[in-house]
Amino acid sequence: MPVLNVPPLLSASIVTAFEAQIEQEMSAMLQYRAWANACRARAYRGSLKWLKAQSREELHHANKFQHFITGLNEDVSLPPGDAPDESFTDLPTLFRAAYDLETEQAVSLQKLSAQITAEGNLIVAEWVDQHLKHQRKELTELITILNWFDHAGNDEAALEMVDHKIGKKS
Ligand SMILES: [Fe+2]
Ligand SMILES: [Fe+2]
Repeated sequence: MPVLNVPPLLSASIVTAFEAQIEQEMSAMLQYRAWANACRARAYRGSLKWLKAQSREELHHANKFQHFITGLNEDVSLPPGDAPDESFTDLPTLFRAAYDLETEQAVSLQKLSAQITAEGNLIVAEWVDQHLKHQRKELTELITILNWFDHAGNDEAALEMVDHKIGKKS
């Protein structure tokens, strides 16, 4: 007969929150794919390369959360996710939207960490915080890229140079 009353590593509410996070990462994967395709169609090769890499990275994030749950023998049920927005205005607008998307992810990770900390589960909160740290790096990289666009303005030749520089980042 068990006597220690060991707390579970993942409560039902943490599993649900992780599933929502997986949904967000999967939606981001599709959104980056759609943006990559828009850049392919317009021969922005550098951005295409970078956006494809981001799409792969979002899948990697989704897998990390999924493996964390299944590694503890919990089942995962995946919500449907958002369909990607396939509209295209121009390159700077696209990267601004990418920045907003990454900010949204950072905010939801922060909420997730706070929720788990409030439940007193410091082990899992620490794991989420590691992920959040990486997320902040992604935001810093996007701010650098947005600054390049800011300097380029609307000049098509300057935009192509920025596109080239973005390609070298991935
Ligand atoms: Fe992500
Ligand atoms: Fe990301």
